Amino acid sequence: MNIDVFTLFPDWFEWFSTQRHVANVLAGGSQLAFVNPRDHTPLSGGQVDDTPFGGGAGMVLRVDVLDIALRAHYGIDPVELRSRRRVIALAPSGRLLDEQLVNELAAEPSLTLLCGRYEGFDERILEHFASDVVSIGRYVLSGGELAAMVLCDAVLRKLPGALGHEHSAREESFSAALDGHPEYPHYTRPAEYRGWRVPEVLLSGHHERIEQWRHERSRERGGLNPSSENPSR
Ligand code: 6GU
Repeated sequence: MNIDVFTLFPDWFEWFSTQRHVANVLAGGSQLAFVNPRDHTPLSGGQVDDTPFGGGAGMVLRVDVLDIALRAHYGIDPVELRSRRRVIALAPSGRLLDEQLVNELAAEPSLTLLCGRYEGFDERILEHFASDVVSIGRYVLSGGELAAMVLCDAVLRKLPGALGHEHSAREESFSAALDGHPEYPHYTRPAEYRGWRVPEVLLSGHHERIEQWRHERSRERGGLNPSSENPSR
C-alpha cells in the first residue's frame, strides 16, 4: 500500500508514523509520504488559501494551488489521477468512514488523501480532483489531518504484518468472523477485583463454551444496522 497525504501540516504525522502497527507495515514495504501544497504554491508568501466568494468567515483551500501540487507530485493532470488511484478528500460532508469503507480502501494498492484546513476546500477540488469525499463523523474538526490519521490507522492495521499476531484482527469488532457485530468483552488478571469477578466461563478452559459465550455477547451488543449505530456503551 502506498499512501500520499497532501497536508499543510506534515509534522503532525511524525508521531503517527512511529506507532507500532504503522511502523510495522512501513517496514513491510508500504509507503506513507507527505506533500505540503505550500511547497508548490506559485503565490507569494506561501499562500495556499483565500477568503470565500460571497463573504463569510474563514479561509478556503485554493483549487489552483492543489492542482499545481498534485501535478508536480504525479506528473499528470490531476483530473486524470482519480481514474488511476482513489483520491480521497477529507471533509465533514463526506461519506461516513465505516468498517466496509475501511475494507474497501485496504484493498487498494494506493491512496491519495487531501486534507483541507480552515473552512475546507474550494468545491472544485472535490468535483474535479477527488474520487471520494470521506468524513469520520458528524462533527466538525478544524482540519482534515486528524481524520486522515484515523483513516490511515484503520486501513493500515488491516494490512498483513501490521498487528503482532495475525489472528488479532480476525475476530475483532464488525469483522465477518463476528457477522459484523461488535467485539465481545475482554478480561484479564486479576480474576477478581474489588469484588468484580470475571465471568466463570472464561476461567473454565472449556474452549467451545468460551467461543459460544463470546459470540452470544457479541450479538447482544448489536449489529451495524442504523437502529443500533449508537449503542449506549
Ligand atoms: Cl474528514 N474533516 C473535518 N474538517 N471535520 C470532520 C471530518 C473531516 N470528519 C468529521 N469531522
